[in-house]
Amino acid sequence: MTRAPTKILHISDTHLFSDKNKVLLKVPTQKSLEAVIELIKQKQEKFDFIIHSGDLSQDYLPPSYTRLAEMLAVFKVPTYYVPGNHDDTKVMMDVFPCHLVSNTKHIIINGWQLILLDSHIPSAVEGSLASRELTQLRHCLESHPDHHALTVFHHQPVPVGSHWLDNLGLKNADEFWKIVSQFPQFKAAFFGHVHQEFEQVVNGIPCYSAPSTCFQFARKKYDFGIEHIPPGYRWIHLYDDGRIETGIVRTKDYIGEFDGGAQGY
Ligand SMILES: [Fe+2]
Repeated sequence: MTRAPTKILHISDTHLFSDKNKVLLKVPTQKSLEAVIELIKQKQEKFDFIIHSGDLSQDYLPPSYTRLAEMLAVFKVPTYYVPGNHDDTKVMMDVFPCHLVSNTKHIIINGWQLILLDSHIPSAVEGSLASRELTQLRHCLESHPDHHALTVFHHQPVPVGSHWLDNLGLKNADEFWKIVSQFPQFKAAFFGHVHQEFEQVVNGIPCYSAPSTCFQFARKKYDFGIEHIPPGYRWIHLYDDGRIETGIVRTKDYIGEFDGGAQGY
């Protein structure tokens, strides 16, 4: 008998401030996340857990992390996270666990394993998987050959077609691909950072981003830009046989004032 899929809510790049009224590129990041949470509640789909693929905070101060945990607690399921370039790993480890946000980085569930990796380099915007992270990845894949596997980390392991953003991706993506290509049970890579919907098969492996819950970067653009697209989330269903179904849902409207002339953030 086929088991019901494991259902995951994937959110990313919430960029919360300690001051809940603060804006980033004219977007009140708190209100924007509230709109996404409201949308998820309206859809009434039940998730087994939440993954957040980084940039939880914009000011990496404890109150921003605590408030995020409070907001996500409405779903009554665990949240697992990876740090982004805007996060402070030490502060996160001090604040979490908090409410239902956990520091767990390896999840085994219904024939699957989720391997959460830290691609954050302190004081850098681009990312890299340190040797301890690559060792952990290999160890998890070797230890569970009978489990379908996927990874979650912040920086994109594949170019998304924007010159400026692809200079800020995962610098040692080759090392990541070299490891996972040795394990046929490896099924997908999920990430954040790119503030846009992206999906591409690389070396036979589908790669998926989640949109940001605040502003969206302009797609396929050489230089920095943002696009007038509402925020949203990704849903993921994992099946026993290794299949993945996934999609994006967005709010009806952009939250805040669209700043088409923004040169960076
Ligand atoms: Fe971000």
